[in-house]
Amino acid sequence: MEQKRGKFSGKIGFIFAAAGSAVGLGNIWRFPYLAAKYGGGIFLLVYLILVVTFGFALMVAEVAIGRKTQLSAVGAFGKLNQKFSFLGYLASVVPMIIFPYYCVIGGWVVKYLSVYVSGQGLAAAQDGFFEGFIGKPVEPILFLAVYVGITALIVFLGVQNGVEKASKIMMPVLAVLALGVAVYSVTRPGALDGVKYYLIPDFSRFSPMTVLAAMGQLFYSMSLAMGIMVTYGSYMKKEDDLEKSVKQIELFDTGMAFVAGMMIVPAVFAFSGGDEAALNKGAGLMFVTLPKVFADAGTLGLIFGGVFFVLVLFAALTSSVSLMETVVSIFQDKFHWSRKFTCTLVMVGCLLLALPSSLGYGLLSWIAPLGFSLLDFFDFISNSVLMPIVAFLTCIFVGYIVKTKAVEDEVKLSSPFKREKLFTVVIKYLAPVCIVLILVTSVLDALG
Ligand code: PFF
Repeated sequence: MEQKRGKFSGKIGFIFAAAGSAVGLGNIWRFPYLAAKYGGGIFLLVYLILVVTFGFALMVAEVAIGRKTQLSAVGAFGKLNQKFSFLGYLASVVPMIIFPYYCVIGGWVVKYLSVYVSGQGLAAAQDGFFEGFIGKPVEPILFLAVYVGITALIVFLGVQNGVEKASKIMMPVLAVLALGVAVYSVTRPGALDGVKYYLIPDFSRFSPMTVLAAMGQLFYSMSLAMGIMVTYGSYMKKEDDLEKSVKQIELFDTGMAFVAGMMIVPAVFAFSGGDEAALNKGAGLMFVTLPKVFADAGTLGLIFGGVFFVLVLFAALTSSVSLMETVVSIFQDKFHWSRKFTCTLVMVGCLLLALPSSLGYGLLSWIAPLGFSLLDFFDFISNSVLMPIVAFLTCIFVGYIVKTKAVEDEVKLSSPFKREKLFTVVIKYLAPVCIVLILVTSVLDALG
C-alpha cells in the first residue's frame, strides 16, 4: 500500500523527503518578492521570529501526529479524535488550491530555462519581456502543460526512480549557486542600499499585513498547515530524533529563503535605483530581476542563468511532486481508483484549474477579486486565509483536545525534548491568540 503511494525510500528518509517538499519556489520565488514588498528588514525579522516559534512548534506537532498515528492527514486527525476528522479534510483542500497555480509558476521557470538554453538570455533582461510573456494567452499555457506533464510523470513512475538521488545532488548545488549569485548581486553598484533595506528593520513599515504575509509564507515554505508534514511524519522511524530533524529542515529552508532574498532584493536596488514600484513587482520579481543580474555578468552570466534555472526547476519539481502525490493519495485512499487513472485525473484537473491563474495576466486580467490578479488571489486564499485557520485548529487540537503531552511523549521516544516549554506555550497560547488577532485585523484591512 505504502509502496503504491510512492513514498520516499526509508533509507534517505524523512529529512530528505520533507526538505525536498519544503525547499522550492516558495523560497526562491515567493520569499524575495514578499520581503521586497513588505518592507525588507522588518519582514525578515518577523519571519525569523515566526520560524523559531510558530514554525518550530507546528512542524513538531504535525510530524509527531503523523508518526504517532502512522497515517496521512485525512486519517490521522480522525484517529486521535473522531470529531476532528474534518481538520484532515480541511488541510487537504490547501494543496488542491496550491498545486494548480504552483504549476503556472513552474511553467514560467521552464520558459526561462528554454530562453537561456536557446541563447536569448539578453532578451529576457529587457524591460517588458516578462509582462509580454505572461500576458500572452497560449504560450504560458503550453509551458504550464509541460511542467504539469513532467510532474505527473514523476509521480506516476514513483519518486524513488532517480528523483531522490538527483535532487540530493541538485539541492546543495542550488544552494552554492544561489550564494554565488547573491555575492554578485550585493557587489553591484547601488546594491548596498538594497542590502540595508533587506537587513535593517524599519519599524515604521510594520503592519498586521506584514505579520500575516510572513505567517502565510512560513506555512507555505515549510509545507505546514496542509497535512503534508503529517504524512511525512508517518514515514519517520520511531528511533529518529524528531526535534533535531525539524530543526535541520527549518535551518535549510530558512537559509535558502534568506540567500534567495540576498540575491534578488539588493539587485532590485542596483538595477532600478530602488524605487518603490520596482520593489512592488510582486509575483514577477524574480523573473524580472534575475535576468538583469545574469545579463550584467556578460556571457558567463548567461550560461550561469541557464544552469540556475535548471536547478530552480529541480527544486520546484520536488515540491510539486509532493503536492501532487498528496492530492493523488487522498483520492486513491478515498475512492480506491488505480494509480494510473488517478494520476491522469489529477493532471487534467490541475491543468483546467490552472487556466484561470495563467490567463489572469492577459485575457482574464479584468477579473481582479479584492484587487488581486487571479493567481495572487488563489495564493491569498490558501496562504493568508485557509492555512492560518488550519494552523489555528491544529493548535487547539494539540493543545486542548489530545493535549500537548501526547505530542511531547511522541517526541521523547528517541531523545529528550529540549524546547518542550517553548512548544507548549506556543501551541496552547501564543499561536492561537496571535493567529486570530492577525487574521481578524487583516481581513478588516482587506475589506476596509
Ligand atoms: N514548500 C514549497 C515551497 O516552498 O516551494 C511549496 C509547497 C510544496 C507547498 C508542497 C505545499 C506543498 F504541499
